[in-house]
Parts: sequence; C-alpha cells; structure tokens
Amino acid sequence: MFDLTGKTVLVAGGAGYLGQPICTGLAEQGASVVVADMAGERARQLVAQIREKGGSAEAVALDVADQVSSEDTVKKTVDTYGRLDVLVNATFASIGKRVEDLTAEEFDRTNRINLTGAFILARAAADAMPSGGSIIFFSSMYGRVSPDPRIYHAPMNPNPIEYGVGKAGVIQMAKYLAVYWGPRGIRVNVVAPGPFPNPDVQAGHPDFISRLADRVPLGRIGRQNEMAGTIVFLASDASTYLNGATIGVDGGWTAW
Ligand SMILES: NC(=O)c1ccc[n+]([C@@H]2O[C@H](COP(=O)([O-])OP(=O)(O)OC[C@H]3O[C@@H](n4cnc5c(N)ncnc54)[C@H](O)[C@@H]3O)[C@@H](O)[C@H]2O)c1
Repeated sequence: MFDLTGKTVLVAGGAGYLGQPICTGLAEQGASVVVADMAGERARQLVAQIREKGGSAEAVALDVADQVSSEDTVKKTVDTYGRLDVLVNATFASIGKRVEDLTAEEFDRTNRINLTGAFILARAAADAMPSGGSIIFFSSMYGRVSPDPRIYHAPMNPNPIEYGVGKAGVIQMAKYLAVYWGPRGIRVNVVAPGPFPNPDVQAGHPDFISRLADRVPLGRIGRQNEMAGTIVFLASDASTYLNGATIGVDGGWTAW
C-alpha cells in the first residue's frame, strides 16, 4: 500500500531541513524523486546520497517565486521520468520581522513564495497529471493557530505575521483545489508541521527550545525524520480517499 515503485515525485524545497529526509524516504519506497530547490549544491549532494543507496533521483534548480522556473521544473520532471504522480511543496520563506517593522514589499515577497508560488507550481503539476495524482502542500501550526508571543523572548521576534497568514491561505487553497481537481483524480492535501527547529536554532537557543517543548503535549520538539512517514502516506495508495485534508504533524501543539 505504501509502495511508490513506478511513481515520480517532485519535491520543491527538497534540499531543506525537512525536505531531505522526505526525499530519502520517498526514494526508499521506490519513487523516482526530483529534488527541486534554489540551493542547487545541497540538492545535488542529496541526489548523490540517494543514488548511493540505490535510489533514483535528479536535482533541478527551481525558484518557486518565478512562474517560468516552476513550469520548467515540471517539464524537466516529465522529460526525465516520463510522468509526474506527486508534488510535494516544502519550500520556505519568511522575513522574521515584528508587525511594526514589516514592509508591504516584505509581506508580498514571503507570500510570493509561500502562497502564489505554491499555487503556480501546483497548477503546472496538475497539468502534468492526466491520470490523477497527489499534491501535498506544507502549511504550519502557525497557519492554524497564532504563535504565543510569551514563548519568544526578546531579542527574538514571534514567528512573523506574513508567514502565518500565507500558511493559513495554503490550507484554504488546498481545499479549493481538492474540490476543483477532485473530478480529475487529483487529491490535494496539507501537512501542518509543529516545531521542527533546525540544528542551528537548537544549538543557538536552548532556552527557547525548552519553552517550545513545554508547549507540546508530547513534551519535545519534532525530529527531522518525523515528517517523511506522513508524506509517504499522502503520496501513496494508502491515502487514495484523502482529499482536502490538513494533517497536523505537531506533537499535539494544536490540540489544546
Ligand atoms: N521546520 C519547522 O519547524 C517548520 C514548522 C512548520 C512548518 N514548516 C514548513 O515546512 C516546510 C519545510 O521547512 P524546513 O524547516 O525544511 O525549511 P528549510 O528552510 O530548511 O527548507 C526550505 C527549502 O526551500 C528552499 N527554498 C527557499 N526558497 C525557495 C524558492 N524560492 N524556490 C525554491 N526553493 C526554495 C530552500 O533552499 C530550502 O532548501 C516549509 O514549508 C515550512 O514552512 C516547517
């Protein structure tokens, strides 16, 4: 049921912190994986690692803010593997400023990637899925609930407004497209991760990490490899009746 042999998966942002184990996990289940990312060198290194383990992967340079780049990436995927079955969009953008300091241009820039870019790439991918497929967007716990400012001690700013607004938009976009493309057999779902701070944040802000962990019913932050299983599920035939859903992978953050 979870076997992805014969499927091609395009992972935008595949070279990122969560993207890397996702790409590896998809390849381990037999998928051909296109690691599409702005960070070309990291994407190529990941592809080399996947191939060393016997998996099939290709790196493609992508700027999801650029419509032509997104459409080219889908085209390259189909040219390389002959088909596209699954799109995962794990790209990330955020300015990190306080409400008072954020400019309109910065608000737009983040959501050109997180929202408009996600839409343009998804539409290009859907056009390349004549026999149906699965599209997986990344939202966030902060697309569902607001950050608690008490966790973010100065000089650290609370998780920024334009990020959460865009991530909330992704949830509605997935519902819209799930309805719109459902008749074509294209499922559109969302994962909303909880706190998965990367190693730099973990090393640089130990007090913040323990405040985050305290806020999670499981009592800890997420581990880097704890997203791949949900993505394999959503990519595979184990989830063929799941459409328009948002799955929180957040240790219970949004449960209270
Ligand atoms: N890590 C967390 O705690 C967390 C929490 C909630 C939601 N999320 C979401 O999970 C997803 C993955 O997060 P992450 O922690 O792996 O982030 P990350 O920053 O480590 O990875 C994001 C990747 O996207 C790439 N990218 C950025 N802009 C791009 C662009 N314009 N075009 C193409 N690629 C681009 C980056 O090069 C990077 O490899 C994101 O959508 C993020 O919003 C993460």
